[in-house]
Amino acid sequence: MENSTNKLPRHIAIVMDGNGRWAKQRHRPRTFGHRAGQKAVRAIIEACLRRGIEALTLFAFSSENWKRPQDEVGALMELFLKALDREVNELHGYGVRIRFVGELAAFAPALRERMYAAMEKTAGNAKLALNIAVNYGGRWDIAQAARQAAQAAVRGEIDATQIDEARLAGYFSLADLPPLDLFIRTGGEKRVSNFLLWQLAYAELVFSETLWPDFDAAHLDAAIADFAGRERRYGKTSAQVGGGT
Ligand code: FPP
Repeated sequence: MENSTNKLPRHIAIVMDGNGRWAKQRHRPRTFGHRAGQKAVRAIIEACLRRGIEALTLFAFSSENWKRPQDEVGALMELFLKALDREVNELHGYGVRIRFVGELAAFAPALRERMYAAMEKTAGNAKLALNIAVNYGGRWDIAQAARQAAQAAVRGEIDATQIDEARLAGYFSLADLPPLDLFIRTGGEKRVSNFLLWQLAYAELVFSETLWPDFDAAHLDAAIADFAGRERRYGKTSAQVGGGT
């Protein structure tokens, strides 16, 4: 097998699942699990910085999560607000560029303003692109990309008959970042749950039984090692991509 030890994913996406079950195991409310999950977020960001990962995309709140009990949604919003107030300066100091991806219009103005402020403040950073998917859905991303392409065609900027995969790709939320290499889902479920659908086309998938609050740098390294050991063929044969027969 070719250089399996030094293949580092450039872009990692994580579905951070299992906060609720982690709390339940401790006979505590689900929000206790989300707070513990937030600590895991910080540890994984720091681990990605140390390892030279270029982009990290975290699924913090899906478009379906609004259906959770109102007090849980409220507690998550409160957690996001406090995290923004507390963490942005430090992340900025580390050279992290923060971006929120999803339909931000649905959030309360106070939260939205802080999201925009964090994005503006860190826009010039280049060490790690940290994307926090909030009110995000993979189908939403496909629809908004198609809408942008259609609008550009109506304005006469592009020819509708020339909208192909490459052109459409340019309208996706994370279009300017390296392609998604590694998708990790913690918490034992083996589902994509409407996360990055378009971007997952050639990503390697790793499913971990570990509940998100327990997911640490060692678990991340295990996922990266798993990734490094795989042969990515993009539809070609093993021999064509330099592997065995
Ligand atoms: C899924 O676990 C987790 C969420 C819906 C929320 C993710 C939020 C955090 C990790 C906290 C803070 C994040 C940031 C970016 C500040 P679940 O509640 O579905 O767990 P369960 O499957 O065990 O019920």
